[in-house]
Amino acid sequence: MNVYEVVQGSRSIDGLRRSQRAEPEPGPSEVLIRVRAASLNFRDIAIVRGKYIGGPLTRNTIPLSDGAGEVVGVGADVQDFAVGDRVVATFAQGSPFATLGSPLDGMLAEYRNLDASGVLPIPADLSFEEAATLPCAGVTAWNALTEGKTVRPGDSVLTLGTGGVSLFALQLAKMAGARVIITSSSDEKLERARALGADETINYKREPNWERAVLELSGGQGADHVVELGGAGTLPHSYRAVGPRGEISLIGVLTLPDGDLSPHAMMFKGATLRGIFVGDKALFKGLNRAIEVNGLKPVIDTVFEFDDAVEAYGYLRSAKHFGKVVIRI
Ligand SMILES: NC(=O)c1ccc[n+]([C@@H]2O[C@H](COP(=O)([O-])OP(=O)(O)OC[C@H]3O[C@@H](n4cnc5c(N)ncnc54)[C@H](OP(=O)(O)O)[C@@H]3O)[C@@H](O)[C@H]2O)c1
Repeated sequence: MNVYEVVQGSRSIDGLRRSQRAEPEPGPSEVLIRVRAASLNFRDIAIVRGKYIGGPLTRNTIPLSDGAGEVVGVGADVQDFAVGDRVVATFAQGSPFATLGSPLDGMLAEYRNLDASGVLPIPADLSFEEAATLPCAGVTAWNALTEGKTVRPGDSVLTLGTGGVSLFALQLAKMAGARVIITSSSDEKLERARALGADETINYKREPNWERAVLELSGGQGADHVVELGGAGTLPHSYRAVGPRGEISLIGVLTLPDGDLSPHAMMFKGATLRGIFVGDKALFKGLNRAIEVNGLKPVIDTVFEFDDAVEAYGYLRSAKHFGKVVIRI
């Protein structure tokens, strides 16, 4: 079967190669999936560059955690799935650190066998391409808004940038009745965010101290929830942008440290900083239920063909995208 591999020791996008592997057979507890679509996350760029958790890969690895497809074979012990079912893989398989795309083989392959406990049915109204956006970005945003301080109608939610996780956060926060403030480096992307329901927009290039705008837009209070996608470089701003008893969901690693990282600005507000590592299967099920009930459609920027996977990586790295980048398989 056709697959892509990130070669052992890869430190650049040149380490992503087309390859062949034997078509897998499902083990007794496994389903065999004809993968139809996979999506990229910022993590996948880090993996090919040897900069993800654990450093460069120690073996050739099929990349991408996020994929969806059709069940074409089931092991003898599988009760919950049958041939023809449309399924999406969970980010982690079994233990929280047994994650697809590194260290486990991922979904950028024509076929993938996974334990039946590591897949879920696709929400009814979603295509394979849409479902393939959910496992990492969708579940992470859902975790941020529902697992710690739950978003309530009327809350304010600040989310950073217009990548995959941020647009899910925007859509889910609007679904929950919140007021959404979103930042971007691009006015054009901010316009598109408004069309998706964002209430307030801030260009973080033009306003490097964007927390001031957040405070102004919230009557001096700050945001109840901050979906922190920037990391070390944006955290000091988020400490100032969060409101009394607010919560910062610590998710991203997009920026390097810049200035004072002291979190004391949060202390007097009784705010919380909560670390997030995607989310488990129970959270994914909750997300899927919310998607079905509310008719949410993930925002896909571009769908690339399988032959153009290297181009898809380059496109994500260019940060021209708005929402998700998907590969059809
Ligand atoms: N902890 C976890 O479990 C977890 C899960 C998923 C993702 N993540 C992390 O979360 C981050 C976002 O992931 P993703 O897959 O959504 O990435 P993505 O789709 O590649 O989004 C990247 C976007 O982030 C925005 N950005 C870059 N620098 C920024 C800054 N200084 N301030 C605000 N926004 C900035 C840009 O938006 P504009 O073009 O609009 O400026 C850029 O397009 C990454 O660091 C990723 O590794 C962590």
